[in-house]
Amino acid sequence: MSSHEGERHLPLSVPVVSGNERAYVADCLDSGWLSGAGAYVGRFEAAVCEVTGAAHAVATASGTAALHVGLILAGVGAGDAVIVPTVTFIASANAVRYVGADPVLIGCDDRLGLDPVLLGEYLAASADSSSGLVVDRASGRIVKAIMPVHVFGDPCDMEPILALADRYGLPIIEDATESLGSTFSSGRFAGRSTGTLGRLGAFSFNGNKIISTGSGGMLVTDDEGLAARARYLCAQAKDDPLRYVHGAVGFNYSLSNVSAAVGLGQIETLAARIDTKRANRARYAEGFDGVPGLHFMKAPDGTDPNCWFYSLLIEPAEFGSDREQVMAHLADAGIQTRPLWLPVHMQRPYAGCTVVGPERAVWYWERILNLPCTSDLSEADVDRVVRAVRSLAGS
Ligand SMILES: Cc1ncc(COP(=O)(O)O)c(C=O)c1O
Repeated sequence: MSSHEGERHLPLSVPVVSGNERAYVADCLDSGWLSGAGAYVGRFEAAVCEVTGAAHAVATASGTAALHVGLILAGVGAGDAVIVPTVTFIASANAVRYVGADPVLIGCDDRLGLDPVLLGEYLAASADSSSGLVVDRASGRIVKAIMPVHVFGDPCDMEPILALADRYGLPIIEDATESLGSTFSSGRFAGRSTGTLGRLGAFSFNGNKIISTGSGGMLVTDDEGLAARARYLCAQAKDDPLRYVHGAVGFNYSLSNVSAAVGLGQIETLAARIDTKRANRARYAEGFDGVPGLHFMKAPDGTDPNCWFYSLLIEPAEFGSDREQVMAHLADAGIQTRPLWLPVHMQRPYAGCTVVGPERAVWYWERILNLPCTSDLSEADVDRVVRAVRSLAGS
């Protein structure tokens, strides 16, 4: 008999359908308009603008597509370089490669975001006073943009990052894919949403995000011209829709009307999801409090994150088991968890890229375990995970 017989499998993060999704999808199907540019696409875009405060939102087929188009709109092209944190999902770096550029991979701070100190040191060492450009010394590539990532929904330390971007004249494309609903609570950006501080921001609605359209994304910006260009590029760059005249190499990156109908139903329940996720984060923190060798990562100061994913840091010498052992023990108990992504500088496609200060990222990668965080996770579920982890304490 397995140790979790009788207890249901607890997944890491799965979609929750609890609102008007079915009604909206039925209405969409009845309308006969299933592809992009339908009424639900417009309504979903308007809802994202309302939640984030962005002036414009363009729905895309995925978060990766939104990042790809965002980089094109920021003027990044073949032979350039873009600053990307090494702690991120691979899609951030992949989008940079799609435009023929290379990522410069920078280490993280203690909130797992792009480290502003390392960023500042890198930019100071790379600024070319004669041209006014930032040149990556190792590759000779010109740095054209910065892509901070709000890892697990926790906002990056954006004040110093934006100050550096301003000082060096670099546009910011925020990878806000994981952070829909995250805001800053104090400082210069109090009340502002992630994804809206840079020139462009990208959100994702894939299967494990706080809201999901199955697969989908959104590019947001306050610049009307960039939004119009994004819409044009995402829909095959059609100059004349009757005669099929195309003015650029566009993409089939639009979100379908069916997906947008799901997204609209989902986003209407975002506030309640965030409430649950914040309460569960606090409950996990309490549950692990005082256990030697366990450190449950809390929201960064000055932020109100959406608390999408939860990270437990395990110090093996003090806890008695390492991250791999805890992960195996939880799997045995029917609880799905996940280690932090392998840092991008350690991934084969990016082995040759410039990397700056990766030590802390590697340290976190060795110790972090992501715990179940589905947006309807119950208190009993949280307690079950806490009990299962604590049962290993001192072993
Ligand atoms: C940090 C990060 N960047 C980019 C993406 C790409 O989004 P998508 O899966 O919607 O293409 C994701 C989500 O998977 C992500 O977590």
